[in-house]
Order: sequence, then structure tokens, then C-alpha cells
Amino acid sequence: MKSTLTSYQQRVEQTIQQQLKLHAHTVPERLQQALNYASLSPGKRLRPALVYAVAQSLGLPLEQLDASACAIELIHSYSLVHDDLPAMDDDDLRRGQPTCHKQFDEATAILTGDGQLTLAFEILAKAPLLSAQQKIDSIQLLANAAGAQGMIAGQALDIAAENQTLTLEALIQVHQLKTGALIKTALLLGAVPHNDYANNQAWLSKLGEALGLAFQIHDDILDIESDTATLGKTQGRDQALNKSTFPRLLGLDASKQLRDDYIQQAHQAHHELGFNSEFLTDLINFIAQRKH
Ligand code: IPE
Ligand code: IPE
Ligand code: MG
Ligand code: MG
Ligand code: MG
Repeated sequence: MKSTLTSYQQRVEQTIQQQLKLHAHTVPERLQQALNYASLSPGKRLRPALVYAVAQSLGLPLEQLDASACAIELIHSYSLVHDDLPAMDDDDLRRGQPTCHKQFDEATAILTGDGQLTLAFEILAKAPLLSAQQKIDSIQLLANAAGAQGMIAGQALDIAAENQTLTLEALIQVHQLKTGALIKTALLLGAVPHNDYANNQAWLSKLGEALGLAFQIHDDILDIESDTATLGKTQGRDQALNKSTFPRLLGLDASKQLRDDYIQQAHQAHHELGFNSEFLTDLINFIAQRKH
């Protein structure tokens, strides 16, 4: 799995680099530096990997998905830049480096996120290897997942849930929105150009929903069990902010059990799809085993 993941990471990083260069001559220098800093810092690129994994399984040429993979990583990266701001989670460290507002300044970090968000949709609108309909479908999927009804809703609910005790149902909803929506959409984007999209949509969604929840529960667990150097972000931030997390609500053992249940659900959904990808199987397992 590692070599495939590395090749997908390199692939999307190359596209991000190319796309950021396109406007470099008209973007103010400091903003351009911050855009490069935030977009190319060493993230896992899991969402692009999911896009490519589905495309590969369906026999689509990877080039056709370069725009989608790049767009979803830019949205994810912008969400981290804004998530780390003092008004949000107030974090100093991201991907082993100072957060964007620490390296530059707060206004630059806000504008960097704005720039990444906008660029993502420009890239999809111009995607050279997607048909007009496929571009519209991809833009709609991404807008729906990232917008105020999706990831932004989740972020708003996450902030509102600080110092509160949510029901399990409400906490699941926060995690589904803030993290799950984008992960599900990564899988769907990878299938958009395929003839069988309509047939695969339901099981890809089920797979994405289960994977998204497992992913965020594991993120909550790592905040407790890992350390700052391994994580590349400050360990214990959730506890410091009294965030509503799964370990806080259920304890560590029950959280791990629930995470593993969702991993099993993801495997089952993968099984129901018309294709079976060894890489996707490994990636599903990796979500719950990763150390950062
Ligand atoms: C971190 O996502 C934010 C969450 C949604 C939990 P990742 O763990 O995918 O972050 P990077 O991109 O690898 O830094
Ligand atoms: C972040 O959740 C979700 C989004 C950025 C949309 P967290 O706040 O738990 O992510 P980390 O732990 O800072 O990476
Ligand atoms: Mg947060
Ligand atoms: Mg955070
Ligand atoms: Mg977290």
C-alpha cells in the first residue's frame, strides 16, 4: 500500500504546485508564500488518495481525476488553516510546522484559506479532462460537502459543543459533518467520470460515511494517546478546549470499539461495490491504525 499511497501523494502535490504557480505573478508575494506553505506542508493526502483509489478501481485514467484530487486537498488544507486560528482551535502546530497564522499572521492565514477555497472551485471549473456535466456534478458534490450545510456546519457545531455534553447521536452528527462529509465526497468524486456512477453511489456513500466517522473518532483518540512530535500537532488540545469528543463521552475503550465497528461497516460497504481494491482495503485499515 505504501508505494501506491506515495505515488498518489506525489501526484497531487505536483498538481497543487502547478495550480499555485498559475496565478503566482498576480498574487501578492506574502500571500503566495502562505498559500504554498499551507497547501504543500507534509499532510497525509488521504482525501486525494481516496479519489485516486476509486478511480483506479473503476479503470479510469488517473489524469482525469487530477483536478478533483487537487481541489479536495485544497479544501481540506483551507479547513485546517482556519481550524487552527485563534478564534477556532487556537493551535500553534500543524503538520510538524508552525500553523499558518503563526508562521505569517492572522489576516494572512484567513486570506490564505479564502484563496485555497476559491482556487479549488476554479480548478474544477477548468478541469480539462472532465465533461461539462462531470464538472457540474463534481462542483456540486464538493460545494455540498464543504459548505455551511456540510463541513462548515460541523465546525460551527464543534465550537458550540465546547464545554457541553452532547448525546451520542448529536456527536455523531458533528463528526459526520466536520470530517465525514469531505471523506465521503472524496470517494464519490473518484467515481463521477465513470458510466456506472449512479450504481456505485449508494455503496460509496455508505463506505465514506463509515470511514469518515472512524477517521474522526481515531483523530480524537490520537489527541489523547499520541504525542506532539508524532502527531505534528499539539497533543491534548481537545482536552484543553473541553471539546466534545468520543473519548470524553464514551471513554477510550468504547471509542475504540465504535471506531472498529465503523471500520467493519466500511469493509462491508467496500465488499458490496462492484469492484474490490486491495489498496482501498489497506487504506480502510490504515485509518484506524495510523499514528498521526
Ligand atoms: C486532520 O485531518 C483534520 C481532521 C479532519 C481530523 P488529517 O489527519 O487528514 O490531516 P493531514 O492532512 O494529514 O495533515
Ligand atoms: C478538524 O477537526 C475538522 C476540520 C478541520 C474540518 P479537529 O479540530 O479535530 O482537527 P485537528 O485535530 O485540529 O487536526
Ligand atoms: Mg477543530
Ligand atoms: Mg483542530
Ligand atoms: Mg482533532
